[in-house]
Amino acid sequence: MPQEIWTAVDNYYTNLLEETDPVLEAALAASAQAGLPAINVSPSQGKFLQLLARAVGAKSILEVGTLGGYSTIWLARALPAGGRLVTLEIDPDHANVARNNIERAGLAHVVDLRLGEATESLSELLREEAGPFDFIFIDADKEFYGHYLLWALELARKGTVIIADNVVRKGDVLDANSKDEKVQGILRFNQVLASDSRVSATVMQTVGSKGYDGFAVALVTGEPGKWVCVK
Ligand code: SAH
Ligand code: DHB
Ligand code: MG
Repeated sequence: MPQEIWTAVDNYYTNLLEETDPVLEAALAASAQAGLPAINVSPSQGKFLQLLARAVGAKSILEVGTLGGYSTIWLARALPAGGRLVTLEIDPDHANVARNNIERAGLAHVVDLRLGEATESLSELLREEAGPFDFIFIDADKEFYGHYLLWALELARKGTVIIADNVVRKGDVLDANSKDEKVQGILRFNQVLASDSRVSATVMQTVGSKGYDGFAVALVTGEPGKWVCVK
C-alpha cells in the first residue's frame, strides 16, 4: 500500500509540474533498451537536483556515477551558457549509452564524461586543478561514498553544495552491524559528514517511485584541506 501511494503521488506531481519531456524519456528508453538497471533518479528527484543547482547559480558541476546520463541531463540543463559538467563512470557500456543520451539532449559540448574508476578520475581532476566545482552529486558505488566525499571536498570551495543519493536505504542505516557493504559504506560516509568541520549537513528522507531512501545535503562552510580518516 505505501509504495503504491508513493508512486501515485510521485506520478501526480511529475505530470502536474511537467517534470519530464521527450529527451529525458528517450534517455530512459535507450537505457532500458541497452539493459541498464533502472536505478536513475526519479523525475522529481532530477528536478530537485536541477533546481538546487540553479538556486546556487552553479557554473561547474561534478557527478560521480553517470549510468545512462539521466541525472546528468537534468543537472547539465541547470547550467548557464559556458557552464560545464564532469561526470564519472566506470562501466564502458553505461558510458556509451550515456554519451548517446547526452548527445541527443544537445549537451555534448557541456558534458565531460570520464570513463574509469571514480577515485582515479577524481585524483586526475585534482591534478588538473579542474576544481572548484559549485555543485557535486555523489551517486556511484555506496561502498566508497566516504572516499568520494573526501575527494569532493578537495574539489570544492566554500559555498559548494554536495548532494549524495541513497543514504537512507529503507532505514537500514540504523543497523550499525549490518552485513550489507553498501550500508557500511554509507555509515563510513556518515562519519565523515558528521565529523569533518568543512561541511554542515542534513539528510532529507524521501519516498516516491524509488521507494524509501534519502539525500544527504551538505554545504561546504569551511576552508578545504582538513583530512579526516574514513576507517
Ligand atoms: N546518477 C545516475 C545513476 C547512477 S547509478 C542517475 O541518476 O541517472 C551508479 C553508477 O555508478 C553506475 O552506472 C555504476 O556503473 C557507476 N559506478 C559504480 N562504481 C563506480 C566507480 N568505482 N567509479 C565510477 N563509477 C562507478
Ligand atoms: C542502486 C543505486 C542507486 O544509485 C540508486 O539510486 C538505487 C539503487 C543500486 O545499486 O541498487
Ligand atoms: Mg542513486
